[in-house]
Amino acid sequence: MSRIRPAAMSLGLLLALGHAPAVVAIPGPGAAAAVDGARIIHADQHPGEWLTYGRTYSEQRFSPLAQINDRNVGRLGLAWYYDIGGGRRVQESTPLVVGGVMYLTTAWSRVIALDAATGKQLWVFHPHVPRSADAHGCCGVANRGVAIWRGRVYVGTYDGRLIALSAKTGKPLWSVRTADYTKGYTITGAPIVVQGRVIIGNGGGEFGTRGYITAYDARTGREDWRFYTVPGKPGVADHAASDRVLDRIARPTWHGRYWKFGGGGNVWDSMAYDPKLDLLYVGTGNGAPWNGTVRSPGANLFITSILALRPQTGEYVWHFQEVPDDIWDYDADQQMILADLNLHGTVRRVLMQAPKDGIFYVLDRATGRFLSGKPYTQINWARGLTSRGKPIESRKALYDVTGKPTLAMPGAAGGHNWQPMSYDPATGLVYFPVSAMAFTYAGARRVTMRKLGWNTGDDFIALPENPQAVAQIRKTLTGSLVAWNPVTQRAAWRVALGAPWNGGVVSTAGDLVFEGDAMGRFCAYRATDGKRLWSVETHTGIVAPPITYEVDGQQYVAVEIGWGGAFALAAGQLALDSQINEGNVPRMLVFTLGGAKAMPPPPPRPHLTLDPPPITAGAATIALGEARYQSFCSVCHGDSAVSGGVLPDLRYAPALANPGLWRRIVSGGLLRSGGMVSFATELSPRESGAIREYVISRANQTKGQRATRPY
Ligand code: HEC
Repeated sequence: MSRIRPAAMSLGLLLALGHAPAVVAIPGPGAAAAVDGARIIHADQHPGEWLTYGRTYSEQRFSPLAQINDRNVGRLGLAWYYDIGGGRRVQESTPLVVGGVMYLTTAWSRVIALDAATGKQLWVFHPHVPRSADAHGCCGVANRGVAIWRGRVYVGTYDGRLIALSAKTGKPLWSVRTADYTKGYTITGAPIVVQGRVIIGNGGGEFGTRGYITAYDARTGREDWRFYTVPGKPGVADHAASDRVLDRIARPTWHGRYWKFGGGGNVWDSMAYDPKLDLLYVGTGNGAPWNGTVRSPGANLFITSILALRPQTGEYVWHFQEVPDDIWDYDADQQMILADLNLHGTVRRVLMQAPKDGIFYVLDRATGRFLSGKPYTQINWARGLTSRGKPIESRKALYDVTGKPTLAMPGAAGGHNWQPMSYDPATGLVYFPVSAMAFTYAGARRVTMRKLGWNTGDDFIALPENPQAVAQIRKTLTGSLVAWNPVTQRAAWRVALGAPWNGGVVSTAGDLVFEGDAMGRFCAYRATDGKRLWSVETHTGIVAPPITYEVDGQQYVAVEIGWGGAFALAAGQLALDSQINEGNVPRMLVFTLGGAKAMPPPPPRPHLTLDPPPITAGAATIALGEARYQSFCSVCHGDSAVSGGVLPDLRYAPALANPGLWRRIVSGGLLRSGGMVSFATELSPRESGAIREYVISRANQTKGQRATRPY
């Protein structure tokens, strides 16, 4: 494909001149017109702005701003806040800031432009994602952010559209369907724009999809190239950039009728770009289904891998697979940071990643060669890595199709998930939230591809119904903020956070690291030793990463609050000691030195009364209900019918005492406008009724446990 490459040309010019062209920044939404490749590459010349998902193409999330620093951070106070509303709690966005305007995204893929100094709303774009799309994705209707390029704002929507908006007005300029949500594809990740192409992936590895990324012309929305990350049906041509490499390298690692299950390898999170090497890096997800015995024997390239591609054409350059034949849903989608590290006296251009599998990887990003890798948390699936970075798998964590439960560490939520990390070149440390959360896998005996519900080839077995046993499990769930030295591959410091599944991170030249946590605290730590220097109680769990920016000489720190995501939905209540997320009010909070606005008060606690009807069903019906509940409902309403505080707790549902209402909700789709679709295609009336009986039995158990800590 031959095209003029303005960004690359101006880059050449820049190198010759030694500085960036002077772009006159007009404050306000018009300033977004100046955002292009040169401006993002030279982001450090505009330290007050946050131009792309990871601030720079290297995804370091380190800000050169230092007005707020380790000596004065105690004076940080609220400048303004904005109530996100919108009917869902999970907020994962990295806001971008250009010309004093903040562009953030929210649950259901809304985009909001605010005055970054005052919080005044400039515009809201609502893509009206069909509510039924909720049930076609794994982990809540979250969105992680937009990309900006030449006056336009790009967002991927949960139902699989990529939309270009005018930065000035929020009006849509073009829209393409890049993925089909009715087939299990969703978009939660932020796009990246490289050399005039908007690049976007998709999720769906739990739903039997085949992963790919696509590049579109930023101006017109015309498709430029597509790269499939796993092979499709033999003999059926994709006519895609991936055709040759899939046939040559990937297909020989798959066997059987793998294409029936999609294969997975979805690119659902961040990407990175090196303009000097001209390489685009993408991380790919787990295999679909998780259960490798069902999916296909073999390494199954390119699942759970890092790929380096040419951004102009999508041409393959190299790959590194972290977990061949991944059966644990480990993914390699987690953030990749590009940096130059002095390794044993040689400066190496590296790519760093702390993916869900629990190992911190350092690769040579020109060649994909493995340089080093060490566990950053407890792992039991591998005994170590070979000199080429291949895992030496342990038999302990393997499972098959016999239904025998196997405990693996980390679990499916990962030792570290999508929550962004940050690299401070001055301390040389990478800061990221680490969770210890084992998971019990039980390979399903029978696997049928369902139209609704997860297709992992695993049974989600319920936790024990004995509160003492659950208390024991609770003790093993921990979370911490870790400062990792990528040269020595050791933690420089760790701060315990009280619960797993905490927020993303930003570090600054003020020698500070900011992070929000599951308990609802937003904190500043000293970058060198992890001392907590400042904190504020927000009354809502935080998973989103903070950013920092400057308007009119004043530095601000911003973070979205609102707890959610895979772990929170399914097991959040296991992790939290208090019922903190009963409030869970989504907001954007912005702090500055001397900020004097009062924090919004915590919402009144809902008074829920547990008043279930008596148990009348027999053990067999309850057992059937438990199996179906775990399989179809637990991913949203929580394991063992205990909600993680994100979606309704069914033990308290009015419909529990009203079988007719239950039927109308579960089979009739009565609450579809809220995202609760009908399960009539998957569950017979008898099964739906059995689920109700199971929840009644769980509610009665909980009621009986009031004296101890209930579960
Ligand atoms: C993809 C997520 C998702 C899944 C899976 C899901 N639900 Fe829901 N459910 C919701 C949402 C969202 C609501 C709230 C809807 C509203 O408020 O309008 C809800 C509400 C409900 C309610 C009403 C609760 C109340 O307090 O009034 C019932 C009952 C219910 N769901 C049952 C089930 C059952 C049974 C299953 C499994 C067969 C299930 N749900 C699976 C998302 C889900």
